[in-house]
Amino acid sequence: MSKRASFYGLISVGIFFAVYLIFNENYGRHSMRKTEPTVPVPQQLEQKNSKADTKDIVDPVSELIDQIISKQRRLISEETKDYSFPNGRYNISASKLEDLVIEKNGRPIRSVIVATWRSGSTFLGEILNAHPANYYHCEPLIAFDIARIRGPPLAKKALKWVKDLLNCEYQDLGEYLSYAKKDLWAFAFNPYLWKQCEAHQDICFYREFHSSLCKLFPFQSMKLVRLRLQIAQELLADEKLAVRMVLLVRDPRGILQSRKHREWCPPNPDCSEPALTCADMVSDFKVAVKLLKKYPTRFKVIRYEDLSLDPYKHVAELYKFYGLFFHPKARNFLESHTKANKGGVSSTFRNSKAAPFHWKTQLEFKEVKEIQKSCATAMEYWGYVPAVNATHQKEFNPLTNYVLKL
Ligand SMILES: *[C@@H]1O[C@H](CO)[C@@H](O)[C@H](O)[C@H]1NC(C)=O
Ligand SMILES: *[C@@H]1O[C@H](CO)[C@@H](O)[C@H](O)[C@H]1NC(C)=O
Repeated sequence: MSKRASFYGLISVGIFFAVYLIFNENYGRHSMRKTEPTVPVPQQLEQKNSKADTKDIVDPVSELIDQIISKQRRLISEETKDYSFPNGRYNISASKLEDLVIEKNGRPIRSVIVATWRSGSTFLGEILNAHPANYYHCEPLIAFDIARIRGPPLAKKALKWVKDLLNCEYQDLGEYLSYAKKDLWAFAFNPYLWKQCEAHQDICFYREFHSSLCKLFPFQSMKLVRLRLQIAQELLADEKLAVRMVLLVRDPRGILQSRKHREWCPPNPDCSEPALTCADMVSDFKVAVKLLKKYPTRFKVIRYEDLSLDPYKHVAELYKFYGLFFHPKARNFLESHTKANKGGVSSTFRNSKAAPFHWKTQLEFKEVKEIQKSCATAMEYWGYVPAVNATHQKEFNPLTNYVLKL
């Protein structure tokens, strides 16, 4: 294996492959978007659906939904049988499953990641999703296209979507579900939902189905890459939601190098312009300083580089911060994704330590200089050292021993 093959790369490939296999297994050579339900839909049902969308569900569909929900309820209860509930730890009183389940009037443990494109959020998202009985809302704002959401007019709508999802209220989320109908990837990172959508395409876009399924899960996680922190902080202000939020930060040189290779990125200035990316990092910093004071136990910042250099330590801390038991399933995930299958001790582990720093060899000094020009303040705030010349760039340690100062 090439020394350069990063362990994050491997994870992405692994996830992609798994999703690809799922697609393939179920839909063969047909395009997913064109597949018709395999079970013929009764005339009456078809008409009702096309007219009233999901308002009037006739019996066969509600019956099917009821069956799926009952079965999932049972499975969750099995999956969490030996779970070590917080019971006062992490400042969370829940001592049994029902305390965390919306359909039983409980309050789930809600874990939010605020990040940006190509900043390690896939890895962090999967780490949280390795936790049992976790319902993963993976970037629901994908329907907003390639744009950062910094204020009006998009912010209000985006916040409403995000809150509705965290409350499992899909009544007003018709637009989100319609988007997913065209781009099923929107659901692909939520294995519980995905499994049902594979088996029952005809109910996969019913609001009632989504609400009922979501309300069964004691743990809810969400990754956001479009919403800036100044907007996302509204989630922390909502005491009833009681979210815990982590801002994931990465060296802009690493972010921009990685984005260069995504074809969806370059035409969008929000994605490819160093000045815009770094202005967001500056604004995120200022908001983060405030939030750390205001919500010292519900808001946290982590740099992708620190996470990669010592994943065990940081993941254990993150789980604790979120109020999650560092379950063997989560440990296994980390182990299988940070250790080499062969070749002995930690060869990919070492690669994982190199992954965030590929830009050092992949970018020309000219490009680095250009980014640094737009990013001096952002880099100073977040503890990233500028490279002074081409030789220096390849050899230096770009990180300061960083602690966010209040
Ligand atoms: C525990 O939660 C309460 C209210 O939710 C909050 O005021 C307090 O600061 C929290 N304490 C710790 C140690 O997290
Ligand atoms: C590059 O920068 C380093 C560190 O400041 C310096 O020691 C070195 O002489 C420089 N090399 C060149 C070729 O300018």
